[in-house]
Amino acid sequence: MRILVTGGAGFIGANFVRLTREVRPEVQVTVLDLLTYAGNVDSIPEGVELVTGDVADAGVVDALVRDADVVVHFAAESHNDNSLDDPWPFVHTNIVGTFQLLEACRRHGTRLHHVSTDEVYGDLELDDPAKFTPDTPYNPSSPYSSTKAGSDLLVRAWVRSFGLEATISNCSNNYGPFQHVEKFIPRQITNLIDGVRPKLYGAGLNVRDWIHVDDHNRAVWTILEHGRVGETYLIGADGEVDNKTVVQTLLELMGHAADDFEHVADRPGHDMRYAIDATKLREELGWQPQYGDFRAGLAATIDWYRANEDWWRPLKDATEAKYARLGR
Ligand code: NAD
Ligand code: TYD
Repeated sequence: MRILVTGGAGFIGANFVRLTREVRPEVQVTVLDLLTYAGNVDSIPEGVELVTGDVADAGVVDALVRDADVVVHFAAESHNDNSLDDPWPFVHTNIVGTFQLLEACRRHGTRLHHVSTDEVYGDLELDDPAKFTPDTPYNPSSPYSSTKAGSDLLVRAWVRSFGLEATISNCSNNYGPFQHVEKFIPRQITNLIDGVRPKLYGAGLNVRDWIHVDDHNRAVWTILEHGRVGETYLIGADGEVDNKTVVQTLLELMGHAADDFEHVADRPGHDMRYAIDATKLREELGWQPQYGDFRAGLAATIDWYRANEDWWRPLKDATEAKYARLGR
């Protein structure tokens, strides 16, 4: 099998490439990645072919899709705070990029798996007994989540109108190695390594449904091998935790007092809570998460950032300069 992984130099895509080498060593992987600020060649294991290019570039995409049996589409602009600062790259990559990939897959009859987020469903109240299901109406809040929602809807239309062989997954918040230091958990871990207090947006009551990146990527493999074409699968591991608790767990694991953090300005339009009901994935396809213990997963992630300062150090100053400009 020849597999094209878009965004394979980013956090989840690079972990997907690494997992694939481990569990499907016979698969031939090609990565297409624009190497934006979020892409890092050092995240890709040696020996994997990397094509540096834009997923919205029809010519580049066509040639790569022609040579692939399967495309797994991770490439995206992925950070909410950036989307509030400058939405255009999100429209370009998430919508135009997905469009170009869909057209290439249509021309060549190639199977596509589209990787998306639970944020397309908007947010839940803290006391809402409901979780997101595949039937939850789309209600995105930010330029990031609305462009991901737009990309999902394009995929659905290509399935229905053109018979494209595609599946979609919407996953909750991922954590693990190789995540950019702009994101919540690596930002706080690397702040603490640098002797800087963690920064909590607003009151810190917002809830995210955390899943280890390997559990996400194992689910993607399960869907590739056993998923029904045209279907959407929600991926989550029942990992709801509020942001303040995440920060306090990191503080404790790294030997600091539980109140050694600071509140900063809240994110405009900040979604309150995400929660995934992954019953369909578990019952139809038999997937189960392997990382049950979030605290142990965080401890391993702390160890990874401590051991891999060479990987994240070059990103840290520019990231914090951007946050300083945004007042967060
Ligand atoms: P990331 O920002 O770490 O990586 C994105 C990668 O895409 C980078 O390597 C970047 O260089 C590349 N890229 C950006 N624009 C491109 C373009 N125009 N052409 C080619 N490559 C381009 O993101 P991530 O956290 O790894 O997320 C990957 C996917 O998973 C995204 O589609 C995201 O919406 C989805 N997702 C993320 C999470 C999460 O918690 N991070 C949760 C659910 C779904
Ligand atoms: P983030 O990692 O940006 O993911 P998302 O916006 O996709 O959920 O943020 C996770 C949560 O952490 C979100 O509620 C915003 C909050 N947050 C902070 O409190 N402090 C920070 O420094 C960052 C980056 C995020």
